[in-house]
This record gives sequence, structure tokens and C-alpha cells, in this order.
Amino acid sequence: MHPVTADWQPRVAVIDDEMISRREIKRGLEREGYLVETFADGTSALRQIEQNAFDLIICDLKLPDISGMDILKRACEVSHRTEVIMITGFSSIESAIEAIRSGAFHYVTKPLKMAELRALASQALTKVKLKIEKEALEKELFSGPRNYQIIGHSKAIEQVRQMIKKVAPLSCNVLIQGESGTGKELVARALHCGSKRRNNPFISFNCGSFAEELIANELFGHEKGAFTGAIETKLGLLESAHKGTIFLDEIGTMPMSMQIKLLRFVQERTILRVGGIKPIAVDVRLIAASNQDLNRAVVNKKFRQDLYYRLKVVLITLPPLRSRLEDIPVLVNHFITRYSHAFGKHVTGVSPGVLDILCNYPFPGNIRELEHIIESAVALAEDTVIRRADLPPDIQNLSFNNLQQQKWPSLEEYEKDYIQKVLVKTGYKKQAAARILKIPRTTLWRKLKRFNLQ
Ligand SMILES: Nc1ncnc2c1ncn2[C@@H]1O[C@H](COP(=O)(O)OP(=O)(O)OP(=O)(O)O)[C@@H](O)[C@H]1O
Ligand SMILES: [Mg+2]
Repeated sequence: MHPVTADWQPRVAVIDDEMISRREIKRGLEREGYLVETFADGTSALRQIEQNAFDLIICDLKLPDISGMDILKRACEVSHRTEVIMITGFSSIESAIEAIRSGAFHYVTKPLKMAELRALASQALTKVKLKIEKEALEKELFSGPRNYQIIGHSKAIEQVRQMIKKVAPLSCNVLIQGESGTGKELVARALHCGSKRRNNPFISFNCGSFAEELIANELFGHEKGAFTGAIETKLGLLESAHKGTIFLDEIGTMPMSMQIKLLRFVQERTILRVGGIKPIAVDVRLIAASNQDLNRAVVNKKFRQDLYYRLKVVLITLPPLRSRLEDIPVLVNHFITRYSHAFGKHVTGVSPGVLDILCNYPFPGNIRELEHIIESAVALAEDTVIRRADLPPDIQNLSFNNLQQQKWPSLEEYEKDYIQKVLVKTGYKKQAAARILKIPRTTLWRKLKRFNLQ
């Protein structure tokens, strides 16, 4: 199979403070079929470059805020795949040569000759395409997406792996639910890597980390002049993820006003940039994640039901680590190998007591917490095995009694858990739940309040 799909559309950034030159380059390159985004200054360009959004960057050496050289350096750090062409005045040929030494593909001098720039852009993109193909081939050689390996022997994890295998190649929306640190982003990336979109961007957006009014701007972008300060058209993340995948993390925190906009996108597969009037078709696979039960948010009218059903075409639920203790030894070995290699050490296992401690610990932070524990233990280990003393103090000092207490829930926790299960089963209909639990509705109401289940 050819790793770069025939419909690969190169993404190009043009950074130049001269409007006429920016417009001319954009027009010239769009005619070649590239997706071109323009920036009048370095700061706004860098924000997009950090997202690894471009295959080619065409950048003026002299910008009002940051030097073109700094952009070049950052672009090289973010991705070795991206190529950069510098634009210079005749007087600064020396700095252009310096730029090539620092990793630029080439340079063009002002006044611009569009034919020359088009030819250079085409050469640079051929190089990018070859790099993408080489990376994809190497990945295949190392038995597929090795960085996104889902480790575990438990039945629950085996089912998750089967599900990924089945739905990855389809472009359907997927909703991933699970407690913090259970591997939601890992599963999302594995889905992307198992699809034909794998050579196109995977863009992750945390819905909880932006103020309500900024989310639309981030996701849909804006037209030039849409608001004060919008001096350039800005592509949103959905447009930047064209032909790829967007991962909407913590979807449950998305404000209602945005949910309706997202629903429109999910239904129509077109976006409207902020201040824009022309719908733009975007081909993006949507994967959403939540660490809360979205169904409950729907019942509580915190999440739109129509959007919920659209997102969970396929629902993958990741079990907490404490419910699959049999996965702990393999995960421990997996992380020992990873960090032993990363730190250049020869740690190969754990002493028997350590595994006992780990298998009794409840891991509120799930696999991420286990990973951090092993990372620090490998760093501290003085021997080829991890000993109890290498574990974080709060864990190594847990007495057997403490562990027993943590493993067994209290009667109250058990009650809460059971009530929650009945609520889920009845679709949060309190009357039906009270009937199953054989308690008066008022008692149920009191318990819901006490357990914070409303
Ligand atoms: N089954 C697994 N096998 C190997 N590594 C795993 C597995 N599950 C999770 N991890 C690793 O654990 C860490 C946490 O996973 P990830 O970031 O995907 O969790 P998350 O559910 O998105 O967490 P949060 O809700 O806090 O964002 C990552 O380093 C990931 O690679
Ligand atoms: Mg996450």
C-alpha cells in the first residue's frame, strides 16, 4: 500500500508582513492545489506551527515581531518533516545562506518571481512526501503503530483492542469514556493510526482548557476582520485537521452554545469561520473523550442528547486499572522496558514484594499513575530490579492493613456504586430506580444528595 494517499493535500504557511506579497503567494500556490494559510506576523504563525500543522513554511526573514530565523528554528524543533523556504531582500543574502545552514530548504529573493517560488515549493514538498513515506514504512516494519500499543491481558482490554481493529478503518465517530489516565488519548491515536488517515494530522483539542468565547475561534477559525484584532484569516483546528482526525478531549465540559455549533458541523460536515458566510467542506474524523458519564450529563440537561447520539456511533469504555489487576504485571514490564531504555539503564524487573504492593494499590490515577511510579522507580533503581525502597514513599509505606482497606470499598461506597448502576440502567429515571431498589422515592432522593449523584 502506498503510505501517502493520493488525496494528500500539502499544507503551506505563508508568513510575510507585506499584504500584497502574501496575497500573491497564496493565490499562486492555491492554484497548485495546496492548502495555504497566511500570517502577517510571527507570533500568530508560531501558534499554528506548534500544532505541527504545516508541511511547508514560506517565511519572510524580516518580520515585525519575531525573526524569520527563530521561526525556522522552532519549526525544525516541532517537526523534522516540515520544510522551510525563506524570503529575503537582496541585501540579506548572507543571512539567507545562514538560514540554509540552520535547516531551511532554500531561499527566494524579493521582488518575488512566482514561477521560481512555485518550483521550489514543489521540490520541497516532494522531499516532505518522501519523508512521510519513509516514516510510514519504518512504522510498518516495527509491527504497526508501536507507540500506540495497548498493553494488557485482561478480557476487557482484549475487547478494546478488538473494537479498535474493527472500527479504526471506518471513518465513523467514536466516543471514548473512562476515568482519568485509563488511556483515552492512546486509544484515539491508535484509531487514527489504524485508519487511512494516518499520514494526515491528528489534532487534539481539550474542550476544558479554553474560555467559551475562544472555543469557536480555535475550532472554526475566523475571517479577516471578523473582530478587532483579526487582521488575518485564521484556519481553525477542524480545517487544519482536514483528511485527518480531531480528538475532542473532555467533551463533557463543552458549553451548550458550542455544542449546537459542533452538532451543525457533525451533521453537515461543513464549517463556518467566525465572521464568515461561506460554508467550507471539511473531511475530518471525530473522536471525542470524556471522563464523566455523558449519558448522565444528558439526563441532567448539561449535554445535548442529539449531539451525544451523533458522537457515540461507537462507544469504547475503558475500565479502571483496579478492575483488571491481571494487567498490572505486563504494564509494569512494559514501562520498565520503556524507561530503562530511555534512561540508558539495565533494569529488567521488580522484586517480588513490589508486585504485591502494586497489585494491592487502587491506582486512582490509573495507568498514567502506574507509569509515573515505574518511571521514577527506574530512575532511582541502583540494581537491575526495582526494590520496595525505589517506590514513592507514600506507596512503599502502605501497611498491609491500609492496602486491605483501600482494596475493599466501605459499605457506603458499595451502596453508592450500586445506586449508580441502577440509575444508569433506568436511564436516570428516579421512580423506576426507587422501585428496583425497593426504597421510597424520598429516601432515594436523600441518598442521591448525600452521594452527590444528582
Ligand atoms: N493499555 C495501555 N497500554 C500501554 N500504555 C497505556 C495503556 N493505557 C494507558 N497507557 C499510557 O498511560 C498514559 C495515560 O494515557 P492517556 O493519556 O491516553 O489517558 P487519558 O485517559 O487520556 O487520561 P486523562 O483523562 O487524564 O486525559 C499514557 O502515557 C499512555 O501511553
Ligand atoms: Mg487525555
